[in-house]
Amino acid sequence: MKLPSSAWQLSPEHAARDELAADVRKGLRATPKRLPSKYFYDARGSALFEQICEQPEYYLTRVELDILQQQAASMAQVIGPGALVVEYGSGSGIKTQLLLAALEAPVAYVPIEISSSALDTSLDELAARFPDIQMLPLCADFNTTVSLPRPRREPRSVLIFFPGSTLGNFESAEALRLLKVMHAEMGPQGAALVGIDLKKDPKVLEAAYNDAAGVTAEFTLNLLHRLNRELDMDFDVEQFQHRARYNVLAGRIETHIVSRADQQVHLDGATIEFAACEKMLVEYSCKYALPEFARMAAQAGLAVHQTWTDDEQRFAIQLLRRV
Ligand code: AVJ
Repeated sequence: MKLPSSAWQLSPEHAARDELAADVRKGLRATPKRLPSKYFYDARGSALFEQICEQPEYYLTRVELDILQQQAASMAQVIGPGALVVEYGSGSGIKTQLLLAALEAPVAYVPIEISSSALDTSLDELAARFPDIQMLPLCADFNTTVSLPRPRREPRSVLIFFPGSTLGNFESAEALRLLKVMHAEMGPQGAALVGIDLKKDPKVLEAAYNDAAGVTAEFTLNLLHRLNRELDMDFDVEQFQHRARYNVLAGRIETHIVSRADQQVHLDGATIEFAACEKMLVEYSCKYALPEFARMAAQAGLAVHQTWTDDEQRFAIQLLRRV
């Protein structure tokens, strides 16, 4: 399926390149260096993430899918009929299919996704499977408040679907800001269905981000390949290493790219130095305790209306409504 031209308006290609260059310049000049994790998801990165989800150590996707499979009907009951379903990010679409199949007469589906390739592939299948649900894709960064498209049929409510523990990629101040964006976008009758990974044995968490097959390492380092290609940079990718550790105090997996040597890279004529063993932060994956998450939601004016979890309390899907 071809995307309607409206899908491109928010993110023309040259503006996206400028924004990437500006973010990278800023991140590489900072001390310590850091790069935003949203840039992992070019076509190759999105494909590698799909592969991560199939690794035995990466339980998150499997457990969340399991919860959805078992509980989608119960979720649909609470959500009610005629919803406009907005998804922040759009992966393979399997979770979305489970949700849309369970809901009563949803009017439209609005995936907001920064990677146009991911948006495209997931929508083809959905459109074929749900001919009565209007597909209204938005190619944009969901961190910015967007005005939602108006579907043909008037929705009864807005449901924001944010699975995958993607909220965990944001530092607490940013996560709170994002919850406030949800609060604004859901409207008075609306709700948000948010997937979060729960705190557990650090060994289990670290294994999930250091799979034995090395797919996560490849996913992390793909970011450097992307910068070489899209910004004409000259990272010698072999000279960098993936490292993911659980920070117990902060309650999050911290992923770094570590320099294996003293080396330089270049960006638009500027030289950036890396020292041997220097770490560049590329991702946080925050893990929550349920009461902790409820407190954060409350700060955004949202209450946890219901929680669905697995037997081992590894992962949770929570329904948030305005207080
Ligand atoms: C898609 C952001 C939820 O943080 O667990 C997986 C991304 N990074 N392995 C996560 C990811 C490394 C993933 N999220």
